[in-house]
Amino acid sequence: MNKANSLVIVGAQWGDEGKGKVIDYLAANADVVARFQGGDNAGHTVVYGANIFKLHHIPSGILYPECISILGNGMVVNPLVLVDELVELEKRGISTGNLWISSKAHLIMAYHQAYDQANEELLGENKIGTTGRGIGPAYADKALRRGLRAIDLTDINLFRSRLSKILPLQNHLLREAYGHSGYELNQLVEYYRPACERLSPMVTDTSIILAEKMAGAKKILFEGAQGALLDIDHGTYPFVTSSSTVAAAAGSGSGLGPQSLAGVLGVLKAYTTRVGEGPFPSEEKGEKGDQLREQGSEYGTTTGRPRRCGWFDAVIARYASRINGLTAMAITKLDVLSGLETINMAVAYECQGKTIKDFPSDITGLQQCKPVYEVFPGWDEDISHISSISNLPGAAKLYLEAIEEMAGVPIELISVGPDRSQTIVKPDSLLARWCVVG
Ligand code: GDP
Ligand code: IMO
Ligand code: MG
Repeated sequence: MNKANSLVIVGAQWGDEGKGKVIDYLAANADVVARFQGGDNAGHTVVYGANIFKLHHIPSGILYPECISILGNGMVVNPLVLVDELVELEKRGISTGNLWISSKAHLIMAYHQAYDQANEELLGENKIGTTGRGIGPAYADKALRRGLRAIDLTDINLFRSRLSKILPLQNHLLREAYGHSGYELNQLVEYYRPACERLSPMVTDTSIILAEKMAGAKKILFEGAQGALLDIDHGTYPFVTSSSTVAAAAGSGSGLGPQSLAGVLGVLKAYTTRVGEGPFPSEEKGEKGDQLREQGSEYGTTTGRPRRCGWFDAVIARYASRINGLTAMAITKLDVLSGLETINMAVAYECQGKTIKDFPSDITGLQQCKPVYEVFPGWDEDISHISSISNLPGAAKLYLEAIEEMAGVPIELISVGPDRSQTIVKPDSLLARWCVVG
């Protein structure tokens, strides 16, 4: 088994770090891009020229027709939303003929969305601020061993038979606990029939494809969704998503062993954002936060919600490096910081009279933390056209060096704009080698 050509790409903050952009850039040289967790809560944006694509289930390598796209077993897939995504891409001339869905991926059903939305309403001011896509309930049903899987889409009679065993319980819960009217079996089957027909030919054992490509030393990108602090184990629980978002999940979520995962690239914004509820130590609630939101167009790709904005947090970067085993970092949206007189970076937290450098393991501790800032000089230049690290303003280089030093991980990619072309790869780095064709 050859592992040298695989790269796991994960978000290292609270999601929306620009993973879609970075993956699209690296996918130009990839044979396969595989998602391994999450569902359509993800919103990954790819921009080239006047084209903007917002991907939810579909891997960010889809724009390269030769590249195989895989929806791995660790994902939860909403068949109806996936069909819409396919139709939209095809309308825009993008081929989806190379896309495969793991037979073991779980399905997000209409009742999962109903639970998600009802749960949030019942939680009231204690809500999580989910995307409302049914992610948590779909993963809960997987763990409760009453989920439907992609394999069930391949035969409508199988789909009906599996659903008929689950639906009475789902309806009971919906009616008793949530006051929902429930679903009727035949109607639900007919509702899903077109999606079953459309998706059925794409369903297969994707682990076999991946193992074959791995054995042939092909280049494989594993595409993470969400980010380290939204991880079900390591994130700011309970304000997290319901899957394992860290790099190790790329193995179990795609059907490969850990030795198949070589490099791990963590994607981080040059500042921090978060959507939804939960603690955020370096958040700027005033004018500075508004400025970052406007300059960075920080509005959710999936829900359109304004993103909460704040400064880069090196405590988080170190933590994300530890729990993911990062071998390199990509820093995105550096251009957004242009024009700021000074830039803050959280380098530690002040917590009950103590200075701490490790990210607290539970949110009660985190809520008591105040960031300790180091202040860096800003730069005025528009850097969005710069194509080499040496041409960046001195202050920007100083800022990046500080990030590297505090996180203890090299920066190998810098993004200075949303477009594919606005990407700088560090010469002689592992990523530079990845970008060499062949
Ligand atoms: P993802 O979920 O990690 O893929 O990130 P999103 O696509 O949700 O959000 C990132 C947003 O920033 C998208 O609108 C991207 O087009 C945009 N973006 C990515 N990299 C850069 C960059 O370097 N500079 C600027 N200005 N925008 C960027
Ligand atoms: P990408 O892949 C940012 C957040 C939601 C909420 C929490 C739980 O684009 O980075 P969920 O619907 O998953 O149960 O919501 O997680 N969240 C994201 N935030 N980017 C995402 O994905 C997210 N996916 C989920 O806002 O706080
Ligand atoms: Mg996103």
